[in-house]
Amino acid sequence: MTTTPLQIGTRPRRAPDGAPATSGLCDPALADGPWAMDAVPGQAPPAPVYGPGSSNADVAPPSTPVQQRIPEEYRRAPVAELEERIAAAKAELGERLVVLGHYYQRDEVVQFADFVGDSYQLAQQATTTSADHVVFCGVHFMAETADLLTSPEQSVVLPNLAAGCSMADMADLDSVTACWEQLEAVYGTEPDAEGRVPVVPVTYMNSSAALKAFCGDHGGIVCTSSNAAAVLAWAFERGRRVLFFPDQHLGRNTGSAMGVPLEQMPLWDPRKPLGGNEAEALLDARVLLWRGWCSVHQRFTTAQVDAARAADPAVRVVVHPECPKEVVDAADEAGSTQHIERVVREAAPGTSFAIGTEINMVRRLAAQHPDLTIACLDPVICPCSTMYRIHPGYLAWVLEALVRGEVLNRVQVDDAVAASARVALQRMLEVRP
Ligand code: 13P
Ligand code: SF4
Repeated sequence: MTTTPLQIGTRPRRAPDGAPATSGLCDPALADGPWAMDAVPGQAPPAPVYGPGSSNADVAPPSTPVQQRIPEEYRRAPVAELEERIAAAKAELGERLVVLGHYYQRDEVVQFADFVGDSYQLAQQATTTSADHVVFCGVHFMAETADLLTSPEQSVVLPNLAAGCSMADMADLDSVTACWEQLEAVYGTEPDAEGRVPVVPVTYMNSSAALKAFCGDHGGIVCTSSNAAAVLAWAFERGRRVLFFPDQHLGRNTGSAMGVPLEQMPLWDPRKPLGGNEAEALLDARVLLWRGWCSVHQRFTTAQVDAARAADPAVRVVVHPECPKEVVDAADEAGSTQHIERVVREAAPGTSFAIGTEINMVRRLAAQHPDLTIACLDPVICPCSTMYRIHPGYLAWVLEALVRGEVLNRVQVDDAVAASARVALQRMLEVRP
């Protein structure tokens, strides 16, 4: 069987003695095609796991869709053949199709995207496209969001249904509802003298449609990493405090940049009563941080920042705000993938960067800007293992089906959830970053 290993390559950073820094995969199993993790026809679906990749500890909840094995011809075909077939199917579908790709997607797939962007930009694209079919080369929550923002006649397709997000899976409707009930018991439900409610729920885009709907129903809003500060400001105009889920790091980094002291941003562990807090201590809280994280970004450390600076004192360290706060503090700047892309694009020739985000994006930036020196902050290369599941074989499979008039892997949010989720998304789209 022909499998296509993830082609990974960064310019190796130089160690202080001038020797190339060693680099390797965080898990050798990444050399397998993603179908190695998907279901086998006639056999019970495998326990849904996300590894290997950023963290073997990432386990998808049982409700996660399982991708059945795609036909053998797509698994066996060499990438060059798949590329020809994808290009032919795209040409055939013409303007009836738009392919959206997240920055973290592998190059073999991104080359076919009509638009590449961060999760905010891709959501905006979904609001403007008139194509019949949106094929989303990203992860499940992004496809759900696109479905919410397109018309019912348009279909949104995720080439591999098992491309989820381990961070998004760290918060679900049951645990957020249980948290909310406990917060109501502590804070009550009445607005204060200035009309501010006790808590405003804010969900990161990296969450299920059900949680976006929860926010829509409870006076809350969605944010992405490119508008988190503006969204928190929106929330503080309406509430005394914010419940921020599922990424503690984005919440802490954003709150901290807005001047909220760390003592007023307690962690909420959904497995513990009152999230592991004393009721008294919660009274003073301004941002309640859900105990969730991204396994890709949580790997970055201050030791890596120190090593990058030791190797090149002029290096600019730019990281994503899903990184831990101490890493964001040690970096020169932090921002969304869109921000990182802009900083690199606008840099003077010769600038050297150490970037703390997903490797496919870092590697692409390095290839696009040969006049700059660009390396990943983490010498052990870890892609987002869920984005990795979108292989050209899956893309060819769904596109050729569309040519035949068959819509495979459609992602469709239930009507009951969609209306409320749209309310929260619409609030976000109206906030100026
Ligand atoms: P942005 O695309 O919003 O920067 O987020 C990065 C990410 O982790 C997407 O899952
Ligand atoms: Fe989720 Fe992290 Fe992958 Fe983004 S990079 S999709 S947050 S696991």
